[in-house]
Amino acid sequence: MYRFDTLAIHAGQPNDVATGAVTIPIYQTSTFEQLGPGVHRGFGYARTEHPTRRALEECLASLEGARYGLAFASGMAAIHNVLSLLRHGDHVVSTQDLYGGAWRIFTKYFAKFGIDFTFVDSSDLAAVEQAIRPETKLLWLETPSNPLLRVTDIAACSAIARRTGIRTVVDNTFATPVLQQPIALGADVVVHSTTKYINGHCDALGGAVITDDESLFAELKFFQNAIGAVPGPQDCFLILRGLKTLPLRMARHCENARGVVAYLTDHAQIARIHYPDFGAIVSFEIDASVDDTIDFTKRLRLWTLAESLGGVKSLFCHPPTMTHASVEPEVRRKVGIADGLIRLSVGLEDVRDLIDDLDQALEAIAPRRAACAG
Ligand SMILES: Cc1ncc(COP(=O)(O)O)c(C=O)c1O
Repeated sequence: MYRFDTLAIHAGQPNDVATGAVTIPIYQTSTFEQLGPGVHRGFGYARTEHPTRRALEECLASLEGARYGLAFASGMAAIHNVLSLLRHGDHVVSTQDLYGGAWRIFTKYFAKFGIDFTFVDSSDLAAVEQAIRPETKLLWLETPSNPLLRVTDIAACSAIARRTGIRTVVDNTFATPVLQQPIALGADVVVHSTTKYINGHCDALGGAVITDDESLFAELKFFQNAIGAVPGPQDCFLILRGLKTLPLRMARHCENARGVVAYLTDHAQIARIHYPDFGAIVSFEIDASVDDTIDFTKRLRLWTLAESLGGVKSLFCHPPTMTHASVEPEVRRKVGIADGLIRLSVGLEDVRDLIDDLDQALEAIAPRRAACAG
């Protein structure tokens, strides 16, 4: 068995048998010739499977230490795929500060079909255990969570779920399999927005579902084909290209994030930092009014205000009005998402330039703060 960095380049990606191409080609075709009715060379119709997607799926599965992978047109399509396992009357226990789009599809879409959700601080094992009911079917974990970067003990939660016959799903988008492999910790399913670190270049949308359970895989693959929210060959190619450098990029992302956190920690104007000591997403609050915080964000020149994360370019967002705008204000406050919270996705630029930019923007709002204090 090859090691992680080798798998990122080789798993599911042999040299092309027909031409010797060393990179998996973009098979830009919607259908494949059949040798006789129902008899084909491995691919029948591109919604069901196509070679570029299969390469991506095999590589993703191998990096998560599992046998089966499914690729989707977006992270939301991947989440939809897993929730399709549920029926009317089923119940889900979920991490409370999770991606706003996941919260939205749970409470505004699947709730319509009679599926019930309880949101808990999943870093509190007693709270997880208490929320479980006889009709609970899934434990949905996002760790580190979004945007507060709280860490959940996947192994302990999976053990609780297994004891009670519940499946554990982990959204591993923030950590990536470089930093955390939930299947080895006892989870049944891993979900990704491959739009983020896995692609890594902010040039394609994608999602993935990974499992080591054969019958669960068969069910999820059936939904993938039946629902059809699948990625085309161009997007699979781009994501597979990004995946090859994931280990290298993650090492530098994390190093840069540590540099940014060290700078923020020493800065008198920073009221609160959320960083779990790994990864490259950092959230913080400035010791300033919400208006001054917004003013600070407008002064950043190198950091780009944008939704999303995990790309080479450093981005930042204001979760209350952006990624978590669909979460009601009272729910946000209850969970601890402050109105002035800023979330950074630390990219791969020279960290000194990233820090200089934060510094000049903080400097610019300092006189106003001093005047208010006076
Ligand atoms: C943790 C997490 N999961 C899922 C998603 C949804 O992914 P996508 O935007 O690719 O649909 C996101 C998007 O930001 C996310 O941050």
